Amino acid sequence: MFIYWIQLIVCLLSYINIIHAYKVGTGIADITGPCAQIMFMGYAELGQTGEGIRQRIWARAYIVADDQDDTKRIVFVNTETQSMGDIVKKRVIQSLQKQYGKSLYTEQNVMLSSTHSHSGPGGYLQQALYELSVLGWIEETTQPMVQGIVQAIARAHDSVQPGKLHLAVDELLDTNINRSGASYLMNPLEERKQYKYNVDKNMTVLGFHSSAGEPLGLISWFAVHGVSVNNTNRLINGDNKGYAAYVTDRKINPHGTLSGKGKFVAAFAQSNEGDVSPNTLGSFCTGTTISCDGSKNDKCPTGSSCNGRGPGWKTSDYESNRIIGQQQSDKALELYEKQENQLNGIIDSRSKLFDISKMVINGTKKLCRPAMGYAFAAGTTDGPALTTLGFYQNMTHGTLGWDIVKDILRTPTKEQTDCQQPKPILLDTGEITIPNPWQPTILEIQLFRLGDVFIASTPSELTTMSGRRLRRAIKSRLNSRGIQVQDVIYSGPANGYASYCATYEEYQKQRYEGASTPYGPHTLSAYIETFNELVDAMANGSPASSVPLPDYTNQAFNLSPPKIADFKPITHQFGDIVTDVVVKPNGYSSGQTVSASFVAGNPRNNLMLDKTYLTVERYMPSSTSTKTNTNADSSWVVIRTDNDWDTRFNWKRNQVLLGRSTAIIEWDVDDTVEAGTYRLGYFGHHQSILKKRVTAHHGYSTPFEVQ
Ligand SMILES: *[C@@H]1O[C@H](CO)[C@@H](O)[C@H](O)[C@H]1NC(C)=O
Ligand SMILES: *[C@@H]1O[C@H](CO)[C@@H](O)[C@H](O)[C@H]1NC(C)=O
Ligand SMILES: *[C@@H]1O[C@H](CO)[C@@H](O)[C@H](O)[C@H]1NC(C)=O
Ligand SMILES: *[C@@H]1O[C@H](CO)[C@@H](O)[C@H](O)[C@H]1NC(C)=O
Ligand SMILES: *[C@@H]1O[C@H](CO)[C@@H](O)[C@H](O)[C@H]1NC(C)=O
Repeated sequence: MFIYWIQLIVCLLSYINIIHAYKVGTGIADITGPCAQIMFMGYAELGQTGEGIRQRIWARAYIVADDQDDTKRIVFVNTETQSMGDIVKKRVIQSLQKQYGKSLYTEQNVMLSSTHSHSGPGGYLQQALYELSVLGWIEETTQPMVQGIVQAIARAHDSVQPGKLHLAVDELLDTNINRSGASYLMNPLEERKQYKYNVDKNMTVLGFHSSAGEPLGLISWFAVHGVSVNNTNRLINGDNKGYAAYVTDRKINPHGTLSGKGKFVAAFAQSNEGDVSPNTLGSFCTGTTISCDGSKNDKCPTGSSCNGRGPGWKTSDYESNRIIGQQQSDKALELYEKQENQLNGIIDSRSKLFDISKMVINGTKKLCRPAMGYAFAAGTTDGPALTTLGFYQNMTHGTLGWDIVKDILRTPTKEQTDCQQPKPILLDTGEITIPNPWQPTILEIQLFRLGDVFIASTPSELTTMSGRRLRRAIKSRLNSRGIQVQDVIYSGPANGYASYCATYEEYQKQRYEGASTPYGPHTLSAYIETFNELVDAMANGSPASSVPLPDYTNQAFNLSPPKIADFKPITHQFGDIVTDVVVKPNGYSSGQTVSASFVAGNPRNNLMLDKTYLTVERYMPSSTSTKTNTNADSSWVVIRTDNDWDTRFNWKRNQVLLGRSTAIIEWDVDDTVEAGTYRLGYFGHHQSILKKRVTAHHGYSTPFEVQ
């Protein structure tokens, strides 16, 4: 009997040792900044300011803690942004430490990753080049972003419970394509031969379940630029990954709240997307069938530019966005449902802030102060920039006219020109410091460990081959330290923004991605070398050393339009109808759009975080639902908000009568809508000229029928 007990205890102990259980938590919060008058971050398209909301943008947070010692935890946050601000992370950590003490959440174990969407308001990056592209450092964008990220983490914190993690990988085809094939071909043939595709087609999904098997959430990683929605769009949305997250959340939480905020939280995170486009049909000169790649020899006829085409381009870029998003959602759920490869083992994390511009590789290969090449100004086939001004992709020489112009800004030193070879320097960002440094030199890299799965991040957009080399280098360093590796996932851009990172060979071509690799040809080698230190620190159980992060926000500028008082026509109140819905005798049917417009205030008066500027409401007199609007007749049930894909909140300022504005609410009726009586609602705020008081207002359309 005694022997039996000993055996049982030994058996139990070894079981505990092998299956290392986790505690997990998930949370989501709204980070939608000002949806009007502020420039979108990504395309650097002057005049591309917000005019409303197609979908809100969100932060989704995941906590994984060791079951035995739950102070050992990691926090992964996916934000629907173009990139992350180093100052955003600093403020998030400060706020978390105020709430939870100094040791539970630190820069070491919190990773803020970005989906690289190009359709959200800018102003959260502190370096002048990025500020210039959106006209400033904008607290109005940054503060709700910080608050929302902290709130998502707090919600994840409050939901921490015993749970399980699974990891699954599979190919997803027809959802991404190379956009700089000529650069990719510069990489050695031997290396290219190891891979089936010229972009990464693997999607990796980390699945979260409670210990009882209840679905809690997933994180998917797949490399594809967030540029399905093009640079003519003026409505905030999360691009293809935002759409993927929205449809996935809604599918699993059918009875969750209307914005998709149920218990299940799905994040679609970014990976090595530097040279990867969602425009899967390839690139063509607009209005023609001539294919092109944006280089000089591929010049498009006058009046036409080289643009990528998504799968739904004949309908609209939104249709392409929907398709690319839906495909990611479908694959992620397929992988999630497999529940294979249950993870177990140690939770660990390290981050390191280092000055990349001061590094020297192997004693001779110097990293450079940042600079951008000529092709940076050409943009890409996903958003051509100054192509009519003589910029094109793969420029290894400057042009006389622009050489004169750029030298007025700053003539690069000989040291800088040599260091950046063969890049012709257009913007010597590392040698201009007015009003503050133009690009960062202090960068943060980070490494998470969940058993034998690792998540690595940098603030750069890694090209396909850069990502592969980095993952391989991290894996081989871990192996050399006796650590088993199932997978190294690359997540980013994260924790800051440092433009692109092309391989040494791709850099020689100086297409857009190489021209936008700021620290010279050895940028990737510098990352790999610094990750080696991080792996060693993790293997040794020692801390990684860091340098302090500079904060220039007190010397920042903001040239975006100030918010002024709101005015209305004398005969109207705020919230009054301007143009009512057209009431059709037979009602609306699938494929038709209902719209109404209202006397509005500036949406910047109140961002309505976790709320909505619009509603679509259904008349249900017998309903006992609690989802009703509190300040209205409880027979009206909200069925759509401004976060829904089939609604649009458009805001227009009247250009002639300053301060007057209109909100236009639109709803696309489709065949999933039940027959019944509906109305549109608008919810806004106006600011009076005296005392700057902000007051709420709202209005409803006349009810209408859907057949
Ligand atoms: C990108 O890849 C596609 C499919 O593999 C190929 O047909 C195309 O030529 C490549 N594009 C460039 C610019 O090399
Ligand atoms: C894609 O995933 C498969 C299966 O895990 C793996 O063998 C392959 O190396 C991965 N490809 C890349 C490019 O990472
Ligand atoms: C950008 O999107 C708009 C709206 O879908 C479309 O009309 C326009 O043709 C697109 N531009 C290009 C270059 O594809
Ligand atoms: C530095 O030296 C190592 C070892 O010889 C080599 O593998 C690596 O490619 C070198 N890095 C660069 C940038 O030359
Ligand atoms: C640019 O690329 C094209 C084809 O991709 C090539 O023919 C041309 O020589 C390149 N130009 C330069 C300056 O590298």
